[in-house]
Amino acid sequence: MRDFQGKTAFITGGASGAGLGQAKVFGDAGCRIVIADIRQDAIDAALDELRARGIAAHGIRLDITDRQAWDAAADEAERVFGPVHLLFNTAGVSIFGPIEKATYEDYDWIFGVNLGGVVNGHQALVPRMIAHGEGGHVVNTASLGAFFANSGAGIYSTSKFAVHGLSMAMRDALAKYGIGVSVLCPANISSNIAESVRTRPAHLANSGFEVDEREIAALHEIYSQGMDPEELAGHVKAAIEADRFYVIPYPEARPMLEAAFQQVLDALPPADSDLEGQEKRAKAMARYIEARREMDSDRYGEAAR
Ligand SMILES: NC(=O)c1ccc[n+]([C@@H]2O[C@H](COP(=O)([O-])OP(=O)(O)OC[C@H]3O[C@@H](n4cnc5c(N)ncnc54)[C@H](O)[C@@H]3O)[C@@H](O)[C@H]2O)c1
Repeated sequence: MRDFQGKTAFITGGASGAGLGQAKVFGDAGCRIVIADIRQDAIDAALDELRARGIAAHGIRLDITDRQAWDAAADEAERVFGPVHLLFNTAGVSIFGPIEKATYEDYDWIFGVNLGGVVNGHQALVPRMIAHGEGGHVVNTASLGAFFANSGAGIYSTSKFAVHGLSMAMRDALAKYGIGVSVLCPANISSNIAESVRTRPAHLANSGFEVDEREIAALHEIYSQGMDPEELAGHVKAAIEADRFYVIPYPEARPMLEAAFQQVLDALPPADSDLEGQEKRAKAMARYIEARREMDSDRYGEAAR
């Protein structure tokens, strides 16, 4: 996708940080921008900024974990600006602490927003994008934490591993409709994510972690050194234009990624070992793939092949 003029972009978390950067960059490129966010005050401030820049922008207060509200938000976006071509599932929250201290509510909050919010965005908008037939692009924000996990960021990283996998599957599924999918894996963004605990809902308040003002201040310190959200959104735009899946514009990530993938490769036996078993398994998989294609085309039509 190269022509953004007059296209509608729906951006979750669009009132702050990475999402607001996307709103500015794609608005400057000619898109009509819908920002959906859980914080009305932040939406109002962001709309002022976007409109002052000459961008056609509309705000919707949306909790991305609320499935019914998603349908209403999709209807509203289409009513105001017409069919959605670009979906940015950008909103996310984080919490840090020793994973063995986590409560069910810690898992439910982080998985609900970071993974559930992306699932809901797909469910609400992708069928509409397929139906209008004009193509488009979906950008899901994961994290470098989609490739590594440690105790302190364990729940967050696990949610981002899942967003990575879901994005890969959606890319495979949506290519035939002319809809591209990219996954954004940032290392550090200059944003307000240090404050995300303030959007945690009351019914999931029971946490195993202590998040006090000292922790929030320490996190702000890190994120204040992060990449500018507009610069990051510029990398996203280039990835959409090139229909590239991974958006990881952080050179410092190379040694960590090399080590992580080397560890995976090191776990494999030599390529020339167990040749008989390899052949048997490859043939079985090829037979299954062919059978699967036939079943899918019987059940879901020729397009599923
Ligand atoms: N900041 C970083 O260094 C960093 C690094 C890697 C990945 N990320 C990811 O980038 C994305 C954007 O985060 P950011 O850093 O710009 O943070 P941010 O806090 O500045 O922006 C996130 C926005 O999401 C909104 N939000 C939170 N919960 C929501 C909900 N339930 N429904 C709707 N909106 C909700 C917030 O109100 C906020 O405006 C997130 O997915 C985050 O996990 C951030």
